[in-house]
Amino acid sequence: MSCPFANNGLDKAQDGKNMVEYGGITYTSYLQLHRILHSQKLESEDTNGLPVHDEHLFIIIHQVYELWFKQILFELDSVRDIFSAVDVNETRMLEIVKRIHRVTMILKLCVDQFHILETMTPLDFMEFRDFLSPASGFQSYQFRLLENKLGVKSEHRVRYNQEHYMKVFGDEPEIYKRITASEKEPSLLELLSRWLERTPGLEEGGFNFWKKYQRAVYGILDEQHREAEEEKNEELQTHLLAQEKKRRELFNSIFDIRVHNALVARGERRLTHRATQGALMISFYREEPRFNQPFQLLNLLMDVDSLMTKWRYNHVMLVQRMIGSQQIGTGGSSGYQYLRSTLSDRYKVFLDLFNLSSFLINRSCIPSLTRNMKNRLSIMEEHRNGESKDDDDKNGSDSELEKSSEQSSEASDLEKSIERSCEASM
Ligand code: HEM
Repeated sequence: MSCPFANNGLDKAQDGKNMVEYGGITYTSYLQLHRILHSQKLESEDTNGLPVHDEHLFIIIHQVYELWFKQILFELDSVRDIFSAVDVNETRMLEIVKRIHRVTMILKLCVDQFHILETMTPLDFMEFRDFLSPASGFQSYQFRLLENKLGVKSEHRVRYNQEHYMKVFGDEPEIYKRITASEKEPSLLELLSRWLERTPGLEEGGFNFWKKYQRAVYGILDEQHREAEEEKNEELQTHLLAQEKKRRELFNSIFDIRVHNALVARGERRLTHRATQGALMISFYREEPRFNQPFQLLNLLMDVDSLMTKWRYNHVMLVQRMIGSQQIGTGGSSGYQYLRSTLSDRYKVFLDLFNLSSFLINRSCIPSLTRNMKNRLSIMEEHRNGESKDDDDKNGSDSELEKSSEQSSEASDLEKSIERSCEASM
């Protein structure tokens, strides 16, 4: 084996020149390390004169979280910017997908980071916990910005000590202003909804996906009904008929816009009726080139929701481990009990995307794309709003379907139908 230093006595690894002597920015100044690395002030030392070892980790972990929250907000703002265009430029889809993917990677790290803090024992924590009151993660304004910019609605939030979540920012007008603005600006969910509404193929005068899909679904349900009626075993027949009825009511909850809107008003659905159609269409025809990236985006947004829920869950578990289920938090909430209540669906922003699975139908029943529609989905269009008027796309009318939707619009049955369908959708 030859010696790496046998190169005429020269060490190649030492080739090069130190450039700092020529001036310019340094690592330390570029990253402002003097500021960051001098921002860990231990309250235990300040208050008591005795630094508690684990408080250092406690501060670093929180600071790292806040830095990652900052990066996520940066990515979200840029994606919201792209989506805010009247006609979203499809060539920027890759950018959107890449950035949301990055957000999911950061969130994964955030979910796992709690394990480092779990190396601190509750007794270690007790040594400095009292010095922290009334500071609390509840006052993390970046976390609130993150929730709001994603689309968590103020009215869906769990109340904190019977009060509005913004009350804790009352003494900080700048922060208060920023959070108020984040509630008013269109959230990622709203922008996504607007974008989905323009999904190519939804045009009533064109491919009219919704009509074709309804026809396919009613075909499946009618077949299920026929099979149930032919069942000889009375008990089994009753069961099958009840199942089919429940399924029909569930589908009616997305076919009937009034039921859908009633569910939106109750906070159980988030997307508009037309956006739901778009999301479903993308899910069915995801293999078509133009839908590849939109489909990836829908999946990534579900990942964002899952990861946020996992973050909340890991945080709750950490809190229970550190202070148990009975102690109040340093911010004054019921602690574990309050945090546990934030794990519910009310905090899931992209809830409808998860629930799309209830409305999928077998591949063999998915309406075939027309030649024109197939073409449209294989290329990018400059003007997505351009309606396709091809005859090929227009033969989607179905008198039976129109009859059934007329029947379901009987005003007298409306209230009952909404109630039943709402229940079926839960
Ligand atoms: C020993 C570790 C921790 C304990 C015991 C703890 C405890 C708590 C408690 C009890 C609350 C409820 C509000 C209150 O009454 O104070 C809370 C909220 C919160 N904490 Fe922590 N926490 C810990 C670590 C962290 C870390 C590392 C973060 C990272 C940023 C964090 C972020 C938050 C946030 C964002 C909230 C508000 C959650 C919401 O309202 O949905 N916490 N924490």
